[in-house]
Amino acid sequence: MFHIWKRKAEKSILEPSGWPEGDNIPKHVAIIMDGNGRWAKKRGMPRIAGHHAGMKTVKRVTIAADDIGVEILTLYAFSTENWTRPQEEVDFLMRLPQEFLKIELNELIEKNVQVRMTGWREGLPAHTLQALDEAEAKTKNNTGLILNFALNYGSRREIADAARLLAEDALNGKISLGDITEESLADKLLTANISDPDLLIRTSGELRLSNFMLWQLAYTEFWFSPRFWPAFTKQDFYDAIREYQQRTRRYGGLK
Ligand code: FPP
Repeated sequence: MFHIWKRKAEKSILEPSGWPEGDNIPKHVAIIMDGNGRWAKKRGMPRIAGHHAGMKTVKRVTIAADDIGVEILTLYAFSTENWTRPQEEVDFLMRLPQEFLKIELNELIEKNVQVRMTGWREGLPAHTLQALDEAEAKTKNNTGLILNFALNYGSRREIADAARLLAEDALNGKISLGDITEESLADKLLTANISDPDLLIRTSGELRLSNFMLWQLAYTEFWFSPRFWPAFTKQDFYDAIREYQQRTRRYGGLK
């Protein structure tokens, strides 16, 4: 019995079963990719080895999302708070987009993926921006999955910036106080051009938002996985999607 169970478990890591079907595939999936450091530590490796392994999961999950028709995949790759990590780790993380895109950009182009970034440009190294700008330019006419990296992103600052921009417009007489609404504030956020996430996944067993899209997640469905990000599988991703498909979204109303 144990052997059958073990074989089943091993198989499920390699080959996803229960492919999500139906038309209620979440349009926008956002992921807090957590647990790289702990994954590496468990194996006696440096934290950066965990980030490197996490890059492979980025590829795996991008393909899994594209295969089932997710329209936007936002990955929280670096927060405004992550600058406080040791310089060596920050430098390594800043090189990952470049490395990832060097290996994967051609396939992303072939798959009709659009690469985007949500976050502040200032503070990011020139080589990181150059890699992302190039990927964005080369994929801007694509019409498939939007692969959106949240990089140098923090939600409280984003909301404060939006409030300041609206206040400026009001002071300059461009708008009246009555024009300050949920919609006009959302239009000043870094995500003005993308819809709110339908599903948020966080890996590694942590149950918090870590300053990620606080405004945009107001009615998002949450799904938490105990798995560290480098070990997160296509099967895990599809399990999350299938659970999302079972949920009833009421947006505060009655079904
Ligand atoms: C959190 O895990 C993870 C990060 C701060 C970085 C996430 C980045 C990647 C997965 C690679 C991104 C790849 C591309 C292509 C941009 P942690 O280090 O905080 O884990 P811990 O909580 O176990 O220490």
